[in-house]
Amino acid sequence: MTILVTGGAGYIGSHTIIELHKANHEVIVVDDLSNSSKESLKRVEEISGKQVKFYNFSVLNKDKLKGIFKTNKIDTVIHFAAFKAVGESVAFPLKYYHNNISGTVTLLEVMSEFNVKNIVFSSSATVYGDPARVPIDESFALSVTNPYGRTKLMMEEILQDVYRADNKWNIVILRYFNPVGAHKSGRIGEDPNGIPNNLMPFISQVAVGKLKELAVFGDDYNTVDGTGVRDYIHVVDLAYGHVSALKKITDNSGLNIYNLGTGKGYSVLETLHAFEAACGKKLKYKVAPRRAGDIASCYALPDKAKRELDWQATRNMEEMCIDAWRWQTNNPEGYKSGK
Ligand code: NAD
Ligand code: WQD
Repeated sequence: MTILVTGGAGYIGSHTIIELHKANHEVIVVDDLSNSSKESLKRVEEISGKQVKFYNFSVLNKDKLKGIFKTNKIDTVIHFAAFKAVGESVAFPLKYYHNNISGTVTLLEVMSEFNVKNIVFSSSATVYGDPARVPIDESFALSVTNPYGRTKLMMEEILQDVYRADNKWNIVILRYFNPVGAHKSGRIGEDPNGIPNNLMPFISQVAVGKLKELAVFGDDYNTVDGTGVRDYIHVVDLAYGHVSALKKITDNSGLNIYNLGTGKGYSVLETLHAFEAACGKKLKYKVAPRRAGDIASCYALPDKAKRELDWQATRNMEEMCIDAWRWQTNNPEGYKSGK
């Protein structure tokens, strides 16, 4: 199949392209490089030995987007393109609504016009808000605590309405838990701008000496050791989940929603210690106040994806840390580290 990957130069997109190539799909990318660089795609081509056709503009640009559909026969779209920083979304909600919601609506309009009605959409466990209990299955009540999360929830609802109005659409909504790690080659990985918001990239930068110590946001949660528990999933497992989702799309099975997680929760301190084992160093940390909007525990019940997509995560926490560490040490400045 020919797959249009929006946001394909980003963290999850770049890893997904490699799995798509392995499964013999043709890949076309549209990305405005607002949170990524072309270097990631160059390295993807180097890893998979295949070319990626790249369009450098925003999915908000309807005319240019139509041009892609005019010149290429697209079978399915995998839609990663979005802004994703929770704190920034609180400060600049309109920036998030414009890019994430209007971008998605524009994309869906163009798809509809060209009669391409297959889409895999990147949602997030953030749509479960503060869940009543764990593990979380797909039927849990949805709620959100910040504008970023609200854009994901709204986009899920938009997709449901689109499907209700026209059931020729095939839609797979994937709710990712916490993606971490990097490709085994150490050539592609997560390359956050400035000081990382997320735990694993922050720990990696402490380990490589760029940051002094980890601030553990709260040690008084009702969890194994008082620190927050999350379902960290290796980005390559997550990437492969998209290949599985494409098989579901070709079954013409309407709209389906899946959690992509491992089903196992790790606390902040457990994650820190796993990373220490991977990098062979003791890492400094201090306990800090809770971060606003954080919850105690969040981990998936991933059984539906196993049952219906024949997909499950196979890489453990040790592998996530080893791979994140390899990427970090080989590329201390991310893609700016050069060749
Ligand atoms: P990322 O920022 O690395 O990748 C997103 C890519 O989209 C970037 O390359 C960026 O330049 C591009 N982009 C943004 N707006 C665009 C636009 N209007 N037009 C074209 N390109 C645009 O993020 P990621 O971690 O790879 O996340 C991919 C998707 O998965 C996002 O939708 C994100 O919300 C979702 N998600 C991420 C996580 C996570 O923790 N990383 C968790 C759950 C869901
Ligand atoms: C994990 C744990 C923190 C940093 C976020 C988004 C979510 C999704 C994934 C996109 C928590 C603790 C963190 C630090 C810490 N993204 N922590 N010190 O908050 O589960 O999810 O990313 O959809 O929407 O909200 O991930 O990595 O930020 O935090 O103690 O410096 O690590 O309190 O318990 P989170 P995270």
